[in-house]
Amino acid sequence: MSADSFEFTGRFLEEAERNIAKYPPERKQSAVLALLFLAQEQNHDGGGHVTEAALRAISEKLEMPYIRVMEVATFFTQINLKPVGRFHVQLCGTTPCMLRGAEELMQAVKEKYGIGHGQTTEDQTFTLTEVECLGACCNAPMVQINDDFFEDLTPETLIGVMETLKGGGEVTVGSQIGRITSEPEGGPTTLLTGPAPQTADAPNAPQGGGD
Ligand code: FES
Repeated sequence: MSADSFEFTGRFLEEAERNIAKYPPERKQSAVLALLFLAQEQNHDGGGHVTEAALRAISEKLEMPYIRVMEVATFFTQINLKPVGRFHVQLCGTTPCMLRGAEELMQAVKEKYGIGHGQTTEDQTFTLTEVECLGACCNAPMVQINDDFFEDLTPETLIGVMETLKGGGEVTVGSQIGRITSEPEGGPTTLLTGPAPQTADAPNAPQGGGD
């Protein structure tokens, strides 16, 4: 398939049809975001973006104006309209991450790889995009690289993760300081004594049967 044409194939076609079938025929435009993601995924080896041809194919498939597809595609930063590198680093710059060092992460990437927001390294390995909150604020600062979150970062640990990915190595996703999900740093600070003993007049205490 040339860059001027696009059609869903294989499992992407199946998944596109499954998503369209979720909605009444006159509402099939509701599947637009799912189809944009699928088109992007199908083009993983061709730049990891949604091409102009794919936008047109989706507009035809869903029988909706091209501009409406474009409106959705340009609203979500997850949809790439330009080719991205092998690893797309989406760095959260919203307030909690900013207060916890997002700007230092951005600076470290710039110094190490020479790229800023919206830029790709010459060898097409990394693209850096500053994005809004990705919902992992408790573990700020954080980045998403392709489909994975990396949290509790410092400039050193972020560059370490990126170098490992570049070299084809295994990385630990999630917190980079070893905490489980978003538990407090240093272990639990509440509910340390276990459940309170039940008493007869506690609201949830079992009621005795009538006798
Ligand atoms: S502010 Fe960065 S994940 Fe929410």
